[in-house]
Amino acid sequence: MVKHVGILTGGGDAPGLNQVIRGAVFCGIKKHNFEFIGILDGWKGLLEGTSIPLTIDDVIDYSYEGGTLLGSSRTNPFKSEDGGERCVMNFKGLGLDAIIALGGEDTLGVAYKLFSEYDLPIVGAPKTIDNDLPGTDQCFGFDTSVNRVMESIDRLRTTARSHHRIMVVEVMGRHAGWMTLIGGVAGGADIVLVPEEPVDLNEVTEKLIKLRASGRKYAIIAVSEGVKIRFGEGLEDIFTQDAEVDEFGHVRLGGIGKILAKTLQKRTNWEARYVVLGHLQRGGPPTALDRWLSTRFGVAISDQIAIENFGVMVVLKGFDIVPVSLAEAAKGINTVPGDLIELAKLFEM
Ligand code: F6P
Repeated sequence: MVKHVGILTGGGDAPGLNQVIRGAVFCGIKKHNFEFIGILDGWKGLLEGTSIPLTIDDVIDYSYEGGTLLGSSRTNPFKSEDGGERCVMNFKGLGLDAIIALGGEDTLGVAYKLFSEYDLPIVGAPKTIDNDLPGTDQCFGFDTSVNRVMESIDRLRTTARSHHRIMVVEVMGRHAGWMTLIGGVAGGADIVLVPEEPVDLNEVTEKLIKLRASGRKYAIIAVSEGVKIRFGEGLEDIFTQDAEVDEFGHVRLGGIGKILAKTLQKRTNWEARYVVLGHLQRGGPPTALDRWLSTRFGVAISDQIAIENFGVMVVLKGFDIVPVSLAEAAKGINTVPGDLIELAKLFEM
């Protein structure tokens, strides 16, 4: 019989995390008579046994707050030899009967390993603004971040038009172009460049020359931080801010916007500027749809724990929230399909 439940949030923060926590706590306490603790800073908190109590009073005001009230980290317990054992030891030490893990591919990959190899009873939910988790039709956090991209392009259009400039907008999303593609099309970008297709710089240059020849005085380019640029003689690597990798082996992306603006200005003799949206896409209050989706995820998680259906994550399938194996989260990333990339091209010159 489950009574004590721990919640943790791992990986990059995302709008909606607090609303999943709020939904799980409300449902767990009111419907299933659970007691909750918040495990701090993702898997780091379970490795160290750090937690806070979570009651309805603690979460009631989190209906609108972005980020995560529990803190997060990119800690991978399996980077240390006894990481798995320490997680099990603290799970027992904290008197827990179940864990809720909210995160992306890395956090949920650890959750699956702790469930399948260490028998920890875990239920997860797919969090990432990148929207790249397999197994779900959408991740919470994505709706809010893609609206940030669209709103930013709307704002940048006014200055691009006023100064007759190319404006390059660098968008997060790691190796999936969902935010760039949907935010770019919604914002009316003239050119959308995503990691799923190598970028041919000669092609982009030609499109801009054609656009200008057609009388257009400005151009907006939405580019994913993880695109690969082909300078003609072969594929260059993705642009990374530095050689650092995190505990899951991810490089820190970023910098393509500046390179692209400088290169295109030189090639077209058309003044260009760039903006890196970066963490602006992750911060701030979630949209209504993200709050609603996150709340439903939280409620569904507590319901799955109540029937002791562990080793699953609740996902969106159409309009339904259903459980699927956590193993799904470890099956690569969900990238933008070719037909949607072709659809976006309809709106280029
Ligand atoms: O995975 C979400 C994300 O925002 C990516 O789009 C981005 O590349 C990465 O996190 C940035 O990570 P950090 O916040 O650790 O710099």
